[in-house]
This record gives sequence, structure tokens and C-alpha cells, in this order.
Amino acid sequence: MKVTVYATYDSVEDKVIKDRLVVVVDVLRATSTIITSLANGCKEVIPVVEIEEAMNLSKNYEKDAYLLAGERNALKIEGFDLSNSPAEYTKDMVEDRTIIFTTTNGTKAIRKAEGANEIILGALINAKAVSDYILSRGEDIVFICAGTEGKFSLDDIATVGAIIYRMDDGSGQLKLDDLGLVCRHIYREYKGNLESVFKKSRHYNVLKKANYYNDILYCLKEDMISIVPEYTDGIVKIK
Ligand code: MLT
Repeated sequence: MKVTVYATYDSVEDKVIKDRLVVVVDVLRATSTIITSLANGCKEVIPVVEIEEAMNLSKNYEKDAYLLAGERNALKIEGFDLSNSPAEYTKDMVEDRTIIFTTTNGTKAIRKAEGANEIILGALINAKAVSDYILSRGEDIVFICAGTEGKFSLDDIATVGAIIYRMDDGSGQLKLDDLGLVCRHIYREYKGNLESVFKKSRHYNVLKKANYYNDILYCLKEDMISIVPEYTDGIVKIK
């Protein structure tokens, strides 16, 4: 099974993802938040790139049927219902609702994956579920890390490493590209203390400064949720 990893969404080559199973990872925090929201019973998540696009889309829904959610510069967008903090996506808040969601990098990464055969979302909180799903498909796989504003993000790389580590039974069937090898190496080295890796990343420090340290701790929890979200026809739902 060939494993290809892209460090940022804008480095993705359309010809490589075409016809492939793709996993999009934005562990801090977009994919962690979407997974949480679906696990807490939201109907669906619609990832959009622009704030205006989100607002226009919301006009198609009844008042109580949707929530406008997301962030810019890690903070809640003016006039929106929710920020990108997974702590806000409680059952009471999201159950049976459509979440119209826009974030700086994560929703762009999801949209960039359009053109793949199948798109699923991964984070540490569902790492095992994603790894099990990939193995059940037995196909070549492409990981797309969201990164941070066009740059490589250590937290996403460590998270891809966590998924690859769970996929690897040591039989040599995984054919990792160079970045895949780095991902697995980082996870192996820091397994059990992933925060020490996250700490070095730029986005960790942005979130900490914005008083979102509890979100970081939440996003670091491994294998706590067993769902695999799938993005298809513009909508994310539980697979
Ligand atoms: C993003 O999509 O850029 C991130 O999820 C930002 C954040 O942590 O809010």
C-alpha cells in the first residue's frame, strides 16, 4: 500500500489525488472540531472557504436548523454562532443541526481534496478509526495536511504519523514516501508525549496565547472517538 503525504494543501497535485482515498488532517483544530461535532449528533458539516459564502449559504436554512461556525486568526467570526473551539460543539448545541463551517486552513484543505475518489477526515481523536478504515479498504492512500497559511505544521505531521503508526503491522506492506517516513518517525519518537512536539509548532502557541490551551489538550487525546467523517458532494457526514 503506497502512502503519500502532502505537508500543505496548496502543494497537492490534482493528478495524484485523482481516483485515490484521501485523508485530510487539520488537528489544530478544524478536523478535530468537525469530528467532535458529528460525534455529538450534528446533521452535517458544510465546509466553505469564504465568510461571505457561509453567510449566503445560511439564507437557504430555517433559523434553528443551522449554525454559522468557524474562525479567522483562531477567533470567532463576528456574527457567527460558534468559533472553531471543539468545546463549543456540545450535543445541546449541535444535535440535528447543519454546521456551516469556515476556517483559515482546514476548510480550504478539505475543498482542495475535491477530485479524489473518496475523502475522509482524520485527527488524533479518531486516529485508530481512520487507520482501521484505511486498512479495510487496502488501497493506496494520500494524506493532505492543512498546514498553517501555506506552511508545514508540525502538529499535523505528528498526527499523520499517529495514523500511519496504527496502520503499520511491521510486515513491510506500507510503502511510505519520504514525508510519510518523517511522520512515522516523529510519532514513534514522541508517542506518549505528543504535546512536546506540538509545543514547538507555531499554531500551538497562537492557540495558547488566545486562551485555547484546553482545546489543544483535547485535540491531543488519541482514539477517543470511533467515527470516520466523509466529505462528499460538498457535505461532511459520518461514513
Ligand atoms: C484552521 O483551519 O486554520 C485551524 O483550524 C485554525 C484554528 O485552530 O482555529
